Amino acid sequence: MRLKFIIWFSALILFAGCAPETFFDVNEQLDYCIAQATKTIDSGLPDPSRIPRSIANGKTEWRKVNYRDWTCGFWPGIMWYNYEYSKDEKWKNEAVRFSGALFPLVDSAAIDHDLGFQVYCSIGNGYRLTKDTAYKSILLRAADTLSKLFNPKAGTILSWPREVPGVDWPLRHNTIMDNMINLELLFWAAKNGGSKIFYDIAVKHSVTTMQNHFRPDFTSYHAVIYDTTTGKKIKGITHQGFSDSSMWARGQSWAIYGYTMVYRETKDKQFLSFAQKVTDVYLQNLPKDLIPYWDFNAPNIPNEPKDASAACVVASALLELSTFVTDKTKADEYRIKAEKMLAILSSEKYQSGNINNAFLLHSTGHKPNGGEVDASIIYADYYYLEALLRLKKMQEGKNIY
Ligand code: GLY
Repeated sequence: MRLKFIIWFSALILFAGCAPETFFDVNEQLDYCIAQATKTIDSGLPDPSRIPRSIANGKTEWRKVNYRDWTCGFWPGIMWYNYEYSKDEKWKNEAVRFSGALFPLVDSAAIDHDLGFQVYCSIGNGYRLTKDTAYKSILLRAADTLSKLFNPKAGTILSWPREVPGVDWPLRHNTIMDNMINLELLFWAAKNGGSKIFYDIAVKHSVTTMQNHFRPDFTSYHAVIYDTTTGKKIKGITHQGFSDSSMWARGQSWAIYGYTMVYRETKDKQFLSFAQKVTDVYLQNLPKDLIPYWDFNAPNIPNEPKDASAACVVASALLELSTFVTDKTKADEYRIKAEKMLAILSSEKYQSGNINNAFLLHSTGHKPNGGEVDASIIYADYYYLEALLRLKKMQEGKNIY
């Protein structure tokens, strides 16, 4: 059995290097996601305020969190994607139950920038699929709340209005790369009855981040610290990466996904060209199996944990990016790379299978503080499922968003 796996996996690595077409069945992987999520539901999720977040390496129990946690939107988002794929009301019922548990998020000021992740991946998908006006009103209120964190002097949203080592808030305004993803909520709101200012904030944040958050080789700083009063950049630092000058894998994946989405929403070519630049430096430095180590400059590669979650975010983004790039060779490169990433992620090495009830193994949350290292993490599952659905839609000639 072990030998069979080694031969199969070696063939897959070889394929990652040369063969052009997808050889895995996307429906089979989507069915796998349904089966794994069914196991989680069957093992008991009676209380929607206890939301699956991660499973530690070697454990089988989900660590659960409440609606305040930054990851709270991914499980309901998975339920919505399962419903979209299967059309089975059972998933819709779960999605509704878990999305409803997040409504209180808009009853108070934003505790940080993550509000976009929290509500857009969950309630945003719910609104897309059901057009329920209660969801729309929560999303609009969330956009309003998130916009209050914008600092016009700096030109970015304040990511962490609380104590985080290295950022020295409230003395210093801080913005992290992850914040790019939360702009999607603002773009959506501006198009759906919210203030047009939300659009302006999202564009300004994108431009400022483009100017301050990247090194000359287009690798990103995790965080940038600004003078709160003057808005002047002080310096780029890391929080979850290896060092201030390293390329933290998930940070770069947020940049790739973020600028691709900003191009979709603005059709401004500067964002498309930038999305390609931040993508190309990531792709050029990947290990052979296309799944990055947690930080591209981690000191003990190849004996460092991987981060499958970054690969899932990038696979989903690359599929979208491939639909925007007009140079056919480049577009094909992005699509084929995404398909290969999904094929590797769908292998026995990365899928959880019978090891635990998540979809995937080998993600790394916060290596410097030892949090969720080489674990199953809910956002890896969410973006894996999103990427599979996007690929399925592409194969069927449908719009992917
Ligand atoms: N947004 C937090 C993280 O990527 O870990």
